[in-house]
Amino acid sequence: MIALDFSVFLGRFHPLLVHLPIGFLILALLMEWIQNKKQAGTWKHIISLTWMLGAISAIIAALCGWLLANTGIYPENELFWHRWLGISLAIIASLGWFIKKEPSKYKKSIRNSISFLVMTLLLLEGHLGGNITHGAGYLAEYAPKPLNQLFFTSTQHNSAPDLSQKDSVLVFENMVLPILESKCFACHNDETQRGGLNMEDITLLFDGGENGPIINSGIPLESELFKRVTLPSKNSKFMPPRGEPLTYDEIQVIEWWIDQGAEINKLISDLTVTEKIKPVVKRVYKLDLEPKPWYETVSLKQVDSLLLNNLRDEGFIIKSLGSENSFLDIAFTGNSLNIEKLSKLVDVKEYITWLSLAGTNVEDEWVSVISEFPNLTRLELQKTSVSDDSVQFLRELEHLESLNLYGTNVTDSCLSVIRDFPELKRVYLWNSKVSFDRARALQEGNPDLEVEIGVSFK
Ligand code: HEC
Repeated sequence: MIALDFSVFLGRFHPLLVHLPIGFLILALLMEWIQNKKQAGTWKHIISLTWMLGAISAIIAALCGWLLANTGIYPENELFWHRWLGISLAIIASLGWFIKKEPSKYKKSIRNSISFLVMTLLLLEGHLGGNITHGAGYLAEYAPKPLNQLFFTSTQHNSAPDLSQKDSVLVFENMVLPILESKCFACHNDETQRGGLNMEDITLLFDGGENGPIINSGIPLESELFKRVTLPSKNSKFMPPRGEPLTYDEIQVIEWWIDQGAEINKLISDLTVTEKIKPVVKRVYKLDLEPKPWYETVSLKQVDSLLLNNLRDEGFIIKSLGSENSFLDIAFTGNSLNIEKLSKLVDVKEYITWLSLAGTNVEDEWVSVISEFPNLTRLELQKTSVSDDSVQFLRELEHLESLNLYGTNVTDSCLSVIRDFPELKRVYLWNSKVSFDRARALQEGNPDLEVEIGVSFK
């Protein structure tokens, strides 16, 4: 243990010592170049001395680096090239020192090749080392945009997938595993098992590491997996020992998963969504646990844009409900509507989910066209002359959620139809011919429906 501590102690000098060979070797190359330009032979000894310092410091830095790598806190995949290029650099630099002691004995091409190799290794090795300490993408982070696009490709990836259907989200696979993958796999995988722990294989994850299982189903506080990520970050047992620690949300997910029994094949809807995890699930996974409006549960293929342009030519204002959603919000304003124009909407009838004909000259008979729109959820007919006949036509609309009849000629006799809409949540009857008392009776008989008649009954 003491020997180990001492090697960790020495190892930690590596990041400091690596600057020495970089400085010495670049200085040596620079002096050689100046000497060649000036045709001056007087720098031979000092150049050879600088090569010597460069070679010796490269060897010491490589030794300390080897010790540091063996402490296990660096992922093996990041280390591989850095380790072997570092050793090559120490060897080539020593060779350089040997040759540059008596440069006249060797061909110019040999001397130049050594210089070129040393320079290339220095650049590559420095870059890899920088990536290990600062994370890949460190150089690119503040680079001007054009430079960034030219030389660096983004290494960022979003660890929060958009899982919009809670009925299909597997808690372990879709929520827990991506966290382990991005923050833990680097040192606990099929090739490298720090602490004897392999997380890449589910069975082995449950087997745990050198000190036994790391998951105690149902008890996060007795699970090493949870304890290690919630220790103070200075603690030597804190995981991950380097790189980005887990975020608050990620810790919540792990705690919730273990607390709920650490099951592998459960959906979110199988587990108890506690008050504590609810905001996390909503925020990170963009999962809304409230019931969704009808139009978000249906998926349609993209609507033909030619059809939309034809409709725009007829005077319809058309908006899409979002980039991933093909549903349309269609409106018409003014007094130039007629049944021919309205009938054109039948071409895109599945796509229409919101329709506004507010303030237009729409007539009762024309409304029969609207009854053919199977996915209509919101209809605005306010400030038109429509009457009870229109409402009769609309009874076909089984997904209608909101109906605006404010300022129309509808009367009490439409209320029996309104009562029977299966999904209707809101109806506006203000300023129509519906009587106040009957509207109130409708409200009282249907607590899930909001009846607006100038006063709210709720
Ligand atoms: C950079 C490398 C590295 C990363 C990344 C890493 N670990 Fe470790 N882990 C180690 C080393 C080294 C050990 C052995 C020393 C020790 O037990 O602290 C270890 C040991 C462990 C152990 C103890 C195993 C046992 O039985 O002794 C657990 C649990 C653990 N890690 C969990 C995690 C979790 C969870 C993550 C991700 C959040 C993670 N580790 C990420 C390097 C790493």
